[in-house]
Amino acid sequence: MSILFEPKNIGNLTLKNRFIRSSTAESMAGPNGEITPPMLEFYEALARGGAGCIFLGHGYVHNQGRSHPRMTGLHDDSLLAGLRGLADVIHGHDCKVFAQLNYAGSRVQEGYVEPVGPSAVANPFFDVTVRELRRQEIEEIIEAFGRAAARVREAGLDGVLIHGGHGYLVSFFLSPLTNLREDEWGGDLAGRARFLEEVYGAIRKAVGPDYPVAVKLGIKDDPEGGLTIEEGAEVAGRLAAKGMDAIEISGGLPSKEANALRKDILKRKQEAYFLPYAKAVRAKVGEMPLSLVGGLRSPEVMEEIINAGWTDYISMARPFICEPDLVLKISEGRGTSVSCTSCLACRAGFAKEGLRCRRDE
Ligand SMILES: Cc1cc2nc3c(=O)[nH]c(=O)nc-3n(C[C@H](O)[C@H](O)[C@H](O)COP(=O)(O)O)c2cc1C
Repeated sequence: MSILFEPKNIGNLTLKNRFIRSSTAESMAGPNGEITPPMLEFYEALARGGAGCIFLGHGYVHNQGRSHPRMTGLHDDSLLAGLRGLADVIHGHDCKVFAQLNYAGSRVQEGYVEPVGPSAVANPFFDVTVRELRRQEIEEIIEAFGRAAARVREAGLDGVLIHGGHGYLVSFFLSPLTNLREDEWGGDLAGRARFLEEVYGAIRKAVGPDYPVAVKLGIKDDPEGGLTIEEGAEVAGRLAAKGMDAIEISGGLPSKEANALRKDILKRKQEAYFLPYAKAVRAKVGEMPLSLVGGLRSPEVMEEIINAGWTDYISMARPFICEPDLVLKISEGRGTSVSCTSCLACRAGFAKEGLRCRRDE
């Protein structure tokens, strides 16, 4: 049997195989961030399709941390029943589910919520200037992460995943380009990592020692002068030492030229574009469960990466949009790789109309 289909644990939680559906904002939530019937259908198809675990699209932990109106909410107890229903649907197919906890910061739809960040600097990707967060607001946001995690646990989901990449708030704190603070929340790497570590601490306190807590971590920024691979791996090591259960390895701050969603992955040598980050992280975290996301497309490449010990799981986002059943397809030996061409047509208009593959539109 291929290693891709061997079970493996994150903490006490057993995933039936090595495939994780990486968080992909579905943009289907109701006006208060609630789970809607189309979301249940969408996630049921994914769960039926064979992945060991689904990381839900990012959800906001505080009403000011919402990126756009159709983002899923995790900020209020009124959302519990919907989340519970979603967990039941996914569990019905022997699949695990984590909620992704996020606070958008400055990656927000224009005019929607106030763009905020550690410092008043331009967001290099979106050309918006952010307001500097006050110390009291930082503490309020950290507490909101803890409360959201407690809600996710109460709703019966299997774990939480902190969004620590892609230019959202955690990533803005980590980057020397966007965190120019001179107080304890900025400065050297320990200062810039403090926000993420405090978020982890608040979550751990809220969910207890045995509940799986993971982070999608941006290991390196795309703009020049940003977070380096060495620094990103160092942050991973610090989190491992604090008891984080797993890390999904991705990119940090985007630039205008590059971001965590590289386009047109058509050849094997273009696959697994963040593998160097995984190698750097592995050297710092020992045997901690790791997953790699970004351009994983053919089973041979996936097997090679896991057999070499660089990561334990394979995460994919875009391939699951056009083929929710792709894990079954791989297990049955149908086709040699996924059919997604990483054309990124799925991103056009998705925040308004909901996530779908638009390659042929
Ligand atoms: C439409 C779309 C929505 C996404 N939403 C999220 C999200 O909510 N949270 C997140 O961490 N990453 C999000 N991503 C990034 C993916 O999880 C993943 O990191 C990236 O697409 C690279 O992996 P892939 O090559 O398998 O697609 C999104 C990607 C796309 C295309």
